[in-house]
Amino acid sequence: MIGRLNHTAIAVPDLKAAARVYGQTLGAEVSTPRALPQHGVTVVFVSLPNTKIELLEPLGENSPISAFLKRNPAGGVHHLCYEVEDIFAARDHLLARGARVLGDGEPKIGAHGKPVLFLHPKDFCGVLVELEQA
Ligand code: CO
Repeated sequence: MIGRLNHTAIAVPDLKAAARVYGQTLGAEVSTPRALPQHGVTVVFVSLPNTKIELLEPLGENSPISAFLKRNPAGGVHHLCYEVEDIFAARDHLLARGARVLGDGEPKIGAHGKPVLFLHPKDFCGVLVELEQA
């Protein structure tokens, strides 16, 4: 069911420092920071030949990554995003197999303007999983 790895998201306490690590130390192509207030994050996109890395810094009071950064003050891998062809079919497939979809179970428009869902990390080897309709 899942297809390509769309991105790996890394939560960071300092986006400028993280962008320097990826842009200068690792020599990757990094975007300018983009504020996504509706998602509670500011993001820098790192383009790799086969996938993307997203560096996420909290934005605003109720950022969904604040609790994660409290537990992981130096930052860490926050989620993996896999592409699916049909987000509703994927959701129904997962629910039928007992997996937990976060929130109200309805896809939301994600950072790339496409429908996404998040899946409970306890059902997926301890890692938060995002599904994005390709
Ligand atoms: Co993501």
